[in-house]
Amino acid sequence: MRSTSTIPRHAAIIMDGNGRWAAARGLPRSAGHKAGIDALRAAVRAAADFGIEYLTIYSFSTENWSRPKTEVMFLLELLRRFIRQDVAELHASGVRIHVIGDREGLDRSIVTMLEDAEKLTRDNTKLNLVVAFNYGSRQEITRAARAMAADVASGKIALADVTPEALDGQLDTAGMPPPDLLIRTGGEQRISNFLLWQCAYAEFVFVPEFWPDFTADIFARAIAEYASRERRFGGLKAQSA
Ligand code: FPP
Repeated sequence: MRSTSTIPRHAAIIMDGNGRWAAARGLPRSAGHKAGIDALRAAVRAAADFGIEYLTIYSFSTENWSRPKTEVMFLLELLRRFIRQDVAELHASGVRIHVIGDREGLDRSIVTMLEDAEKLTRDNTKLNLVVAFNYGSRQEITRAARAMAADVASGKIALADVTPEALDGQLDTAGMPPPDLLIRTGGEQRISNFLLWQCAYAEFVFVPEFWPDFTADIFARAIAEYASRERRFGGLKAQSA
């Protein structure tokens, strides 16, 4: 399997650097998260224009609960506001919304909003926007392993049925193609418990700009970098095959 496409079918983004963007301007961290929403809107539009099929964004990790309560409350409120203000327009432009992450322990009203957005947009085909919220990849893999273990224990499936494909089908991302390109803004070069299983063969592009400064041009440059890479998926170079 080789990728010949210059446009990733699935791009995933770790939107990092909101706090540092704000600090550099003498503003509170919340101002950085607010500016991050504008950058997110631009990234969604750009992804649709580029012809990307899936855009997954890391909006709140399971580890983000350890931030000060005021910041956590602000991020939860931003998600509510984003859903309230943007879903109609996203729907009108053909965006299908999916939410991945652990819904247990989330406020019921947030879960309902997320489910309503998924339902409203489920027939849209222009772009799949996958919002990772209360998401942690190790936890997701653990949930999937537990579900399979329960099926083995109850005799529903045999131990031999526990395969990478079957486990893949138990993840929150079941049915979605794996990310081809993972972008992280803000200069840090790590994956931070994001799509660990799914990114097995993703190309990583790290950009120095803070997330609120992310633009369609920076996105296009990351895609150009992706297109210049030779993807071998564990195989050999094309000419040696
Ligand atoms: C990382 O920046 C960003 C986050 C933890 C949250 C990302 C959220 C948004 C872009 C807006 C919210 C989006 C939705 C859909 C609700 P950081 O705070 O870790 O920045 P730092 O590394 O500079 O401190």
